Amino acid sequence: MKAKKHKTIPWSREITGRIPLRIFGTFLCAAALFAGLVSCGGRSEAKSSDEDSGIILGFSQIGAESAWRNCNSRSVQEAAHDAGVQLLFENAEQKQENQIKAIRSFIAYRVDVIAFVPIVADGWDNVLREAKTAGIPVLVTDRKIVTEDPTLYAGFIGTNSEEEGRNAGRFLVNKFADEGMKKPVRIVELYGTEGSSPAMGRARGFREILADHPEFSIVYSESGDFLHSRGYEIMRSVLDSGIAFDAVFAHNDGMVLGALEAMKESGIAPGKDVAIVTIDAEQAAIDALRAGEVNCVIECNPKTGPAIMDLAKRLAAGEKIPRLMHVEERVFSEGDVGLDELAPRGY
Ligand code: AHR
Repeated sequence: MKAKKHKTIPWSREITGRIPLRIFGTFLCAAALFAGLVSCGGRSEAKSSDEDSGIILGFSQIGAESAWRNCNSRSVQEAAHDAGVQLLFENAEQKQENQIKAIRSFIAYRVDVIAFVPIVADGWDNVLREAKTAGIPVLVTDRKIVTEDPTLYAGFIGTNSEEEGRNAGRFLVNKFADEGMKKPVRIVELYGTEGSSPAMGRARGFREILADHPEFSIVYSESGDFLHSRGYEIMRSVLDSGIAFDAVFAHNDGMVLGALEAMKESGIAPGKDVAIVTIDAEQAAIDALRAGEVNCVIECNPKTGPAIMDLAKRLAAGEKIPRLMHVEERVFSEGDVGLDELAPRGY
């Protein structure tokens, strides 16, 4: 496959693939119509090469807050290239307003399909209504939205945050039971971005499991925004304020890796003095699991690019897609057979 060029147009920071000819073609069409030469129907003006699917996908990513996120972006970009899908890729730098702007530009550009990772769950109805009016199908990915009108998007593909939280809860309950460890168990929770579906889902799933085990309690919970630096800061201030705890549940590896640094600085041996559970399964967290500094890593699968391209093609062809598609995810725990032979994670 030939390498495609990266080009820039004013409203888009990054484009992978050929420049869409639609807008330019519209002007040509108008001129030709005026001259009575051709009839303008659909998008025949945007000629595809053999390897092109002829599909333009507008993708709004939330940013680059974690190694997980960067892998997710790479997966989408590489899959678009491999599938011959022209990708208009926008990075919102953690701002919902930037995502809304990006989606509006995709609509103005008349892309075939829009996909986006909603940074928070609420506040999408207006812009999605605009996409619907323009007849552009929308795929929600990685994070979920809350809306009273389910017709505003075609489907969701991504992780099952509730189940990730449940798996974290199950691990802690079983660990403390199996090892006959002391109770009560006091937990510090580092949760993700306020109002985001993974933060809400993971918190909900975790609490669902703990609800049957009153000897477990969350003694401190704060949002670290999925950031390594915030994980460090929060743990530093928890330790400085003298809060006692037996376990840490972090909603992502970035935050846990920051927290491990703070604990080690204070002479705490994470994974031994304190049980550590985290979500994502970045290479660094798997390495920490192998080193005994983390006890359980729950996979959150970022490699959804190929599935997104497949769904984009189906939507562009006018097909229906399933409403809810959860990707497969594993749980890696201390003592698992084959941990040392795990293939490199790629993020
Ligand atoms: O939405 C998925 C979460 O966002 C990942 O767990 C986290 O690392 C990312 O930034």
